[in-house]
Amino acid sequence: MKTWKGIILAGGNGSRLFPLTHVVNKHLLPVYDKPMIYYPLTTLMLGGVREYVVISSPAALGQIEALLGDGRQWGIEIVYRAQERAGGIAECFRIAEKDIAGCHVALALGDNIFHGAGMPRLLMQAMSHESGATIFGYEVSDPSAYGVVVLDEHNRPIDLEEKPKVIRSRLAVPGLYFYDEQAAGFARELQPSARGELEITDVNRRYLVAGSLRVTQFGRGVAWLDGGTHQDLYEASQFIKVIEERTGLKVACPEEVAWRMGFIDDAAFERLIDPNPVTDYQRYLRSISETSRRAR
Ligand code: DAU
Repeated sequence: MKTWKGIILAGGNGSRLFPLTHVVNKHLLPVYDKPMIYYPLTTLMLGGVREYVVISSPAALGQIEALLGDGRQWGIEIVYRAQERAGGIAECFRIAEKDIAGCHVALALGDNIFHGAGMPRLLMQAMSHESGATIFGYEVSDPSAYGVVVLDEHNRPIDLEEKPKVIRSRLAVPGLYFYDEQAAGFARELQPSARGELEITDVNRRYLVAGSLRVTQFGRGVAWLDGGTHQDLYEASQFIKVIEERTGLKVACPEEVAWRMGFIDDAAFERLIDPNPVTDYQRYLRSISETSRRAR
């Protein structure tokens, strides 16, 4: 039986968000009513992942740990590892090598936000495979800022490219990847790219060459956003605000996801809720707990 470990990558310089990121790590910035890192964390929690390695810069790690703790309050386990400098996404496998030894890895980039009814099913499907890797494809109008995947006429992947200058495919690869236990070995063999980074696209290419890369396309039902620039961050906040106000449900509350996934029981959920809530967030947790109690 395979064990899945989640890696959340929350390092980097956040230089495109300066001066917001001058003293605050990007992944602690708000996306409407929650810190950005809650979004990738709850995405992986919805897939059923219970053990995590959170990687960030030495300067930010303490603050991120102060926010998320050891995860026990949400029925998960979190350990923290430092990335000395932004050496590339694939460096996470080297940093977490001991933590992930022999495990499958679900990797989420700390600034990627996913929302949609189909997500839990897609995640569980990606995690159902015994071997190989699963990445996703998402059609975008300008793929030049992303890694892209090129498919043949049978929708099989035939090529991958990081930040393409000539557009051969509009299918961007979002920052959510599922790997078998070979990923760390592939990452160990990588050389830095021309921009000096260990590229996740090069890990994916190893799986492609080995014939074990699956690409699942996100349909229209899934929204994918990231918080890389001021504009992205603003739009992501607006998106979450509109969805939450319209549905009356919050997106990416770790307390709620932990409870609904059965990681914590009713009593543990109650302990996370302020008896006299003063914030919208706490009022929300109280209201979903009361609604479920009334329904029983
Ligand atoms: O958002 C999806 C894209 O993310 C993919 O399509 C690309 O293939 C992938 O390379 C990546 O591209 P970006 O240029 O957007 O990556 P960025 O440098 O912005 O970093 C993405 C996240 O990973 C961000 O939350 C910071 C974190 N990161 C990044 C690097 C390079 C680290 O924690 N350490 C790093 O060394």
